[in-house]
Amino acid sequence: NNTFSGDSLRQKIIVLEQIGSTNDYLKSQLSNFKPLPEWTAIMARHQTHGRGQRGNVWTVPPNKNITVSTLLYPKFLSLQDHFLLNMLISLGIIDWLKSLQIDAEIKWPNDILLNGKKIAGILIENSSTSKTINNAIIGIGINVNQQEFPAEIKATASSILKETGNEIHDLVKACEELLQSIQNKYDAFKSEKITEEELLNHYNKLLFQRDIPAIYTSNVIQFEGIIRKVDRNGLLYIESASELKSYQFKEVVFHLQKIDYT
Ligand code: BTN
Repeated sequence: NNTFSGDSLRQKIIVLEQIGSTNDYLKSQLSNFKPLPEWTAIMARHQTHGRGQRGNVWTVPPNKNITVSTLLYPKFLSLQDHFLLNMLISLGIIDWLKSLQIDAEIKWPNDILLNGKKIAGILIENSSTSKTINNAIIGIGINVNQQEFPAEIKATASSILKETGNEIHDLVKACEELLQSIQNKYDAFKSEKITEEELLNHYNKLLFQRDIPAIYTSNVIQFEGIIRKVDRNGLLYIESASELKSYQFKEVVFHLQKIDYT
């Protein structure tokens, strides 16, 4: 039942009708004896047991959204550089959305938001030695044509269709174009056509709630603060009571609630 497509991509997309998780499937195909080519991509028309960040589930209706995983060998990055990979993938997705006239934002560390609602998520799973990242499985979920969302996430999640009114009919073609955008970003950075500084600036320019007062929680304490930037290591800097503090992933939680000064 699997189809193969994608002429312009360096590596073809393998389309599965149904699978638990494309990340898990791709991981199970890795072998030391016969390495898979970089950019091998697995897309599922229906992903039944998708995984998200922080151990969350990623639940999607069949045949509506993009669920894809691709394989990278980012040997040029050292372990401390792992956040650069996060930025490259996020910005590749942003570029693809831009090609559809969609201006999205990045909610730190790598949720993609449109009109303040999450339309895409990224789950990167690295296998590394003490110094370098050997391989990285890049899992991407994009809410494309999904209309209904479960009550628990209704307020915070949406899809391209819901936000723009435009349906994307050919999901495989859309996925090819998405992966092409990501490849272009990755290659441009690898070949030093874009610098680390440019990458960081681009990421920070798109940062959700940057320079806007909002409510955050850290260590069960709620506080009002203003996001100022993210650094190359992925630390988030929030200014609060004239003090700039940095936070790691898991150390801070965003709140829906906006501060209304009117
Ligand atoms: C998140 O925002 O929590 C990350 C969501 C990542 C979902 C994608 S869908 C394709 C790939 N396979 C998975 O099991 N997860 C990722």
